[in-house]
Amino acid sequence: MNSYIYLDHAATSPMNDKVIDAMTLAMRAVYGNASSIHGAGRESRKQLDDAREVLAQSIGAKSGEIILTSGGTEADNTAILGTAYARATEGKHIITTQIEHHAVLHTCEKLEREGFDVTYLPVDTEGRVSVEAVQRALREETILVTIMYGNNEVGTIQPIAEIGELLRNHQATFHTDAVQAYGLETFDVTELQVDLLSVSAHKMNGPKGIGFLYHKTGTPLASYILGGSQEKKRRAGTENVPAVLAFAAAVQSASELRSDKRALYNHFKQIMLDVFTQGKLSFHVNGDTKDVLPHVLNISFTGMEVESFLVNLDMAGICASSGSACTAGSIEPSHVLVAMFGQGAEELRNSIRFSFGEGLTEDDVRQAAEKTATIVRRLAN
Ligand SMILES: Cc1ncc(COP(=O)(O)O)c(C=O)c1O
Repeated sequence: MNSYIYLDHAATSPMNDKVIDAMTLAMRAVYGNASSIHGAGRESRKQLDDAREVLAQSIGAKSGEIILTSGGTEADNTAILGTAYARATEGKHIITTQIEHHAVLHTCEKLEREGFDVTYLPVDTEGRVSVEAVQRALREETILVTIMYGNNEVGTIQPIAEIGELLRNHQATFHTDAVQAYGLETFDVTELQVDLLSVSAHKMNGPKGIGFLYHKTGTPLASYILGGSQEKKRRAGTENVPAVLAFAAAVQSASELRSDKRALYNHFKQIMLDVFTQGKLSFHVNGDTKDVLPHVLNISFTGMEVESFLVNLDMAGICASSGSACTAGSIEPSHVLVAMFGQGAEELRNSIRFSFGEGLTEDDVRQAAEKTATIVRRLAN
């Protein structure tokens, strides 16, 4: 048994028993190379095809539209670099937002260094980009719009279907990073009108190191990883069959448990907020409180300093996160909170992200909230 209360499921989540069983079974029995033509290879191919079908169906796609990747970062890199390099002759303008994950932002920055022009759209104080801002930024030569589905730090959900509708008659490829949303939100790629969509297994109780990029048939996309002919020549490399089978098991269990989990995590949010309110703490929630991912709760506590806050939470056995990158021992302010509140805002120094997931009980959450309240009372000034 772990002695800590894990409230960092947005960073990564544990695999559940069904997923571990699917993975260990496959590690023992399904070891052929899916490209081999002998019996062992054909067995792997068959299992891989079945798993790919599960992944495709989960977003209303066809199985040939799923490119297996090593996770969300590679899916984002493939989407952005693959589109830019395939479409550079049609235009060099890309639109994204200031609150994307670094897998998107750093890739866009690389393209800027290579002569592409990137517009980083601002967001409002709830962390949402406006459809009108996307419309104003669009140019004839825009080749890619890449906007995340749900933010990993504050949970705010973006108007993806509305942006999809806006882009219906525009040449731009539309990509969404759905890494945090997949599993807990339901969506259909046709309804969203997206051409590319990134997903990662380890955020929804699957294994680390596996994900996929949905690639709508006919969308121009240059290959990013070169080598063999796997994934219809869109992503070379021998497929990680045990991880893919475990991913499919995670997807199946997510769809069975989705509505219960959503209700439970909303209840967990309310428990924490009630404990903080009853404890008379001075705090506010960062991000939208309605159109928001159910598992993410980002809170700004007046008078707290994030470094000592996190250390004290850790000492109290609570795993949470600041949503900021910890570089060389110092915590960089979160680019998401900077985009929402501006440089110098108190939220950059005093915000903590709690995120919920499988295995957590009401009792864990209440205990964590009470310990957090005690720490805030001790440290806030
Ligand atoms: C929104 C978002 N995109 C991309 C990623 C990267 O995914 P992975 O860890 O699978 O590479 C993450 C993970 O933190 C994320 O939260």
